[in-house]
Amino acid sequence: MNEPNEARASPSASRGSVSRRAALIGSAGAAVVGIAGIAAGIGVGSHEVPPAPGTVSSRQRFANKVVMITGGTSGIGRVAAIAFAREGAHVTLCGRREALGREVERGIGATGGTARYFRADVRVEADVQRFVEFTASQFGRLDVAFNNAGITRDGTMRKMSRVNWDQVLDTNLGGCFNMCKAAWEGMLARGFGRVVNIGSINGQAGQYGQVNYAAAKSGIHGFTKALAQEGAPKGITVNAIAPGYIDTDMVAAVPPEVLDKIKSRIPVGRLGKADEIARGVLFLVADDAGFVTGSTMSINGGQHMY
Ligand SMILES: NC(=O)c1ccc[n+]([C@@H]2O[C@H](COP(=O)([O-])OP(=O)(O)OC[C@H]3O[C@@H](n4cnc5c(N)ncnc54)[C@H](OP(=O)(O)O)[C@@H]3O)[C@@H](O)[C@H]2O)c1
Repeated sequence: MNEPNEARASPSASRGSVSRRAALIGSAGAAVVGIAGIAAGIGVGSHEVPPAPGTVSSRQRFANKVVMITGGTSGIGRVAAIAFAREGAHVTLCGRREALGREVERGIGATGGTARYFRADVRVEADVQRFVEFTASQFGRLDVAFNNAGITRDGTMRKMSRVNWDQVLDTNLGGCFNMCKAAWEGMLARGFGRVVNIGSINGQAGQYGQVNYAAAKSGIHGFTKALAQEGAPKGITVNAIAPGYIDTDMVAAVPPEVLDKIKSRIPVGRLGKADEIARGVLFLVADDAGFVTGSTMSINGGQHMY
């Protein structure tokens, strides 16, 4: 993630370096990609180099679809913004780091796609409401809500402060509520909507030093199933993705021997990539997935199966 957390600041917060690193990496942020990287179609740091066609893809699954992404300034959200725009979507993205948001906007524009950045803090209901209004003012409506914004504030229960509990719950779960609340009436009125929420393997299996993060992400999975029941008769699907350990620059900075231990617990033998999560999001949003709702798609290399 993009902000410091207790476990990193205090090595004694977790039971060992591998566990501590694992907790961090399980919700790790991805790299900042320069504008040249976006224009070239580069997703995350040096890990992802998809084709660089120079213009949006000829595969226009999302032509004229309007896609809102929370946390589009970096990592998975940023890669998803690029992927949606490449397939013809009009994308709006939010996050607090305006310089990065503008960079994504310009980068997508340079490749012939359409993206607009709006500064919004997902914890603030009024901000999210304005984000939805901004999207409607730019593109006339909203078809897809991708609830991706998230943070970590790791620490064992003994060290977990109420502040860090609230920050993670307010961002990771409260932000999802704020976005769905703001977008819901419009989707109901149009009789169409696609919602994808980002959960986590650590919300499914738990993780040492992450009671706040695991609770928030587990909440995402329950929220998804409940809202899916409300949306199903109205043409709105609501699904979740539970990523495993995703390769980011933060992960790349982990000592090789620690990374090897993490990878040894992943049956496919490697970390995931941000674009592998983005592909899952695009699948759940596409017309082909109209019968998929209330599901949680695990993209974790087989690390957690149930
Ligand atoms: N990477 C992994 O291994 C992994 C594994 C499982 C789940 N996930 C989940 O995947 C999602 C994306 O994470 P990532 O790995 O791509 O991390 P990241 O690079 O740190 O991205 C997090 C995004 O969330 C945004 N964000 C955070 N707090 C926000 C707030 N209050 N308001 C608006 N935006 C906010 C950030 O934007 P600003 O900083 O500009 O506000 C940033 O764009 C998160 O929900 C994370 O928990 C990641």
